[in-house]
Amino acid sequence: MKYQTLGQMKYGSEEIWFPLSEDILSWDEDFHALMLNDEMRMTAYESAIKEVIKHDSIVVDIGTGTGILAQWALEAGAKKVYGIDVNKKILELAQKRIEKANLGGRFVPINKISYEVELPEKADIILSEILGNLGDNEDMTPILNDARKRFLLSGGVFIPKEIKTYLVPISSQAIHKQIIEKKCRSISVKYGLTDLLNKLGIKNQFDIYYDAVIPISSYLAKPALAKAFHFDGADEAVYQTEIKYEIEKAGILTGVKGYFIANLSTNISLDISGDDIAERKTSDCWKHCYMPIEKPISVQPHDIFQLNFSRSYPKEKLTPFRQFYGWDGKVFRNDKIIGEFRHGTHKVNL
Ligand SMILES: C[S@@+](CC[C@H](N)C(=O)[O-])C[C@H]1O[C@@H](n2cnc3c(N)ncnc32)[C@H](O)[C@@H]1O
Repeated sequence: MKYQTLGQMKYGSEEIWFPLSEDILSWDEDFHALMLNDEMRMTAYESAIKEVIKHDSIVVDIGTGTGILAQWALEAGAKKVYGIDVNKKILELAQKRIEKANLGGRFVPINKISYEVELPEKADIILSEILGNLGDNEDMTPILNDARKRFLLSGGVFIPKEIKTYLVPISSQAIHKQIIEKKCRSISVKYGLTDLLNKLGIKNQFDIYYDAVIPISSYLAKPALAKAFHFDGADEAVYQTEIKYEIEKAGILTGVKGYFIANLSTNISLDISGDDIAERKTSDCWKHCYMPIEKPISVQPHDIFQLNFSRSYPKEKLTPFRQFYGWDGKVFRNDKIIGEFRHGTHKVNL
């Protein structure tokens, strides 16, 4: 099958886009259309599903959305697919898709958040695509830990099998300028930056991350592993990671790029780090994550950039997907601090 980015969603390098993972409960058909046309995502998932799903597999598709992964699972011979989605309108599209493909008898749609679902049997496979460009920014960790405990047979497997999140300091004055001017692109007027900032209680546009395709040529150091997820029940949703980078290139440090590399199955990996839009070596729906620094820092080779990256939750979790990311750091030259910053999607005090 050939996939094509939708015309109205054409995008370029170093453009900031609305961070869709921060607004999951508002997702509509426009965003699902973007996902369904993301060649990188679609071809990798289709291949992994065909590799892993066997005749007679019982599958739980967490966040089935418009049901494309469920359809592939059924086509691969799954005996039954439980398709869970919190979004009623989108789940109706899944039902239509599966009925049209004459697979309805083996599909069980469930319109609930997964934590509230009880299933009549356990599954061989937990299938999901609830990945954000930072890996866990659609809250996959507690969702999949819970799913493992309550839905998976012992010896059962996950698609994806393993995810790794990488972070790298970058220089992009073009992105920095767009953030100052709040020139944030969006797939529809429904997703507005100012509304999102108000919704999340964030006052400064540098205290949120953005979706953007960030070229490898803007890297100031080598990417480093920030977090790995193995879906063994021991993955952490709350953590703090300190990473030290040696700067390799002189430039202005404006932010940090984040991306994931997933092993969807033993043989299929999905690496969203690429930057070639024309050759379609980027993901249309995920792009990359850009965590900005309000006051950029001029860096030189051999400077040490110490990044502290964290994830947590508000004390009172009023909505299911509210999460906090923090990114703060210092740059050292000859052991002296030459610049520092502190940002996060929660209140931070410098
Ligand atoms: C990124 S979309 C993927 C949709 C579809 N699986 C696909 O690949 O096209 C994720 C979907 O998961 C749903 N979702 C996320 N977390 C969920 C949860 N814990 N319970 C139920 N639905 C969830 C969202 O509403 C959304 O429709």
